Amino acid sequence: MKVLVLVGSRDPKGRTARATDALVAGLTAGGATVSRVRLLDRDIRMCVQRGEDGFGDCLEKGVCKLEDGFAALVDELRAADLAVFATPVYWGEMSEIMRAFLDRLRRICLHDEGKKGIAGKPAFALCVAGGGGGGSFHSADVMNRVLGHCDMDILDVLPARKQNFDLKLEVLGLTGRWLAGRAPKGGA
Ligand SMILES: Cc1cc2nc3c(=O)[nH]c(=O)nc-3n(C[C@H](O)[C@H](O)[C@H](O)COP(=O)(O)O)c2cc1C
Repeated sequence: MKVLVLVGSRDPKGRTARATDALVAGLTAGGATVSRVRLLDRDIRMCVQRGEDGFGDCLEKGVCKLEDGFAALVDELRAADLAVFATPVYWGEMSEIMRAFLDRLRRICLHDEGKKGIAGKPAFALCVAGGGGGGSFHSADVMNRVLGHCDMDILDVLPARKQNFDLKLEVLGLTGRWLAGRAPKGGA
């Protein structure tokens, strides 16, 4: 099973990274092959809302006209059997770079061409609130909604907070093994 892990944190040693490490350890132990991408290392710009009605080629053709790293990353996502989204919680939401990527992904998924290999794809997400701990549920709820807009097969969205971080690391190790044990399933 090929897994693509998209990480929305800036800090390669922060809580999101450590939570991702625990998940990846479980995935790898379960036999999965994991590619991990720090989204900030890719050139992912925010949607510029083209067209008179705010929709451009995303609605009509299922592609984004911006020329940056988005299309290549979507291709990597299409090639994966499982998509993982790992974000820190900022203001009770996902991080800006995760938002930038998913905002554009759900737009291209409005079209049959765009949603090819995305709709129906098994997905798992984790949202790490490392400050006061608030906002993890709201962030998970928003993540759930956005992945739902992409018609992904959402297996779970796991909220974690500073107060339960040690427990969630253990849960993530188990979750990784569980995910790796699932039969690969392609997207639409
Ligand atoms: C702009 C911003 C907003 C944040 N908002 C929240 C929040 O709503 N709830 C929370 O518990 N922590 C919040 N934090 C703290 C981060 O969740 C925490 O620093 C987390 O560990 C960041 O992830 P990282 O360690 O992967 O970088 C915020 C941090 C920043 C920079």
